[in-house]
Amino acid sequence: MAHTIKVGYIHDVQELGNSKKTAIPERFVKDIDERQSLKNVNTSLSTSIPIIDLSKLLMKVNKDEFDIELLKLVASCEEWGFFQVVNHGIDLELLDNFEKVVMDFFKLPLEEKKKYPMLPGTIQGYGQAFVFSEEQKLDWCNMFALGVIPDSIRQPHLWPHEPVTFCETLEEYSKEVRKMIQKLLGFIAMSLGLNEDTFEKMFGESVQAVRLNYYPPCPRPDLVMGLTAHSDGSALTVLQLRKDDPLGLQILKDNKWVPVHYVPGALVINVGDTIEVLSNGKYKSVEHRAVANEERDRLSLVTFYAPSYDMELGPVEELVNESMPAKYKRYNHGEYSKNYVTSKLEGKKSLDFAKIK
Ligand code: OGA
Ligand code: NI
Repeated sequence: MAHTIKVGYIHDVQELGNSKKTAIPERFVKDIDERQSLKNVNTSLSTSIPIIDLSKLLMKVNKDEFDIELLKLVASCEEWGFFQVVNHGIDLELLDNFEKVVMDFFKLPLEEKKKYPMLPGTIQGYGQAFVFSEEQKLDWCNMFALGVIPDSIRQPHLWPHEPVTFCETLEEYSKEVRKMIQKLLGFIAMSLGLNEDTFEKMFGESVQAVRLNYYPPCPRPDLVMGLTAHSDGSALTVLQLRKDDPLGLQILKDNKWVPVHYVPGALVINVGDTIEVLSNGKYKSVEHRAVANEERDRLSLVTFYAPSYDMELGPVEELVNESMPAKYKRYNHGEYSKNYVTSKLEGKKSLDFAKIK
């Protein structure tokens, strides 16, 4: 077995991928039931993942078109918890530019990237998140995570100097993505029969962060896992895929893993734990995972949008009654987040924190 390449705190899969060794370091060989098995994958459902045309919701000129699209949003959130958004209003060139600076960052030598390390017990910087012991097996993925909004969560020393346009591109990207998410959240509230501003009022100054995931090719994909199955601890997550995405993202639907296709110009949206709680379980935070590929690398650009840490949250009053009793307790979102980031990823276990048993 080759040794894990470990520089400082960072176990770097990318360097392993470059070294073209066929042996996988022990640290990445998962227990048999945690490997990215091809069993239980349903590729034929991929093309059924809903596509929402945001322009039809925004323009409100054609009432029928609006109503149809809103119903589609209901079905997307109830049945899938995942959908793609087209005509989202974000300049496609900005999406391309962001992809480019992020890829250029990952291409930097490890010596350069390790200037921004994700230290044990922290969640920002370059490295591997959700690792709590030397024995814990690692995912076949390098992450670079940064808190963006509000300023109080920013760690400026982790914002890279190279590529030189990284920071300004991230700023602009995050601003545009935020606008889109806020509009979407309004429509999601309306689709539940609530006022458009229901969620924004409950969230306070929302927290926004990015997690940039790079999955190098893996000589033995049968032994590893790209990113362990989990639900997101956000309200909404926005995921940008590359044109050549090798179908690495899979979502759990009716107990089968369904790969998510790249749709030109689209952004992938998924419902996070917060919306599941606020909708009293009507909308589902869906379990998903990423698989590594033998031939091709993969990049995914993920934005998490979540309530301010000091907010007290629970199911929206209008969605709780005698026939739909509350499924979740009220809790402090900061405590919820803390529990999320200090636990191993494990399917939808993060929601146990809020569940009424
Ligand atoms: C995540 C995530 C999937 C991917 O970062 O939470 O689910 O395709 N990523 O990288
Ligand atoms: Ni996720």
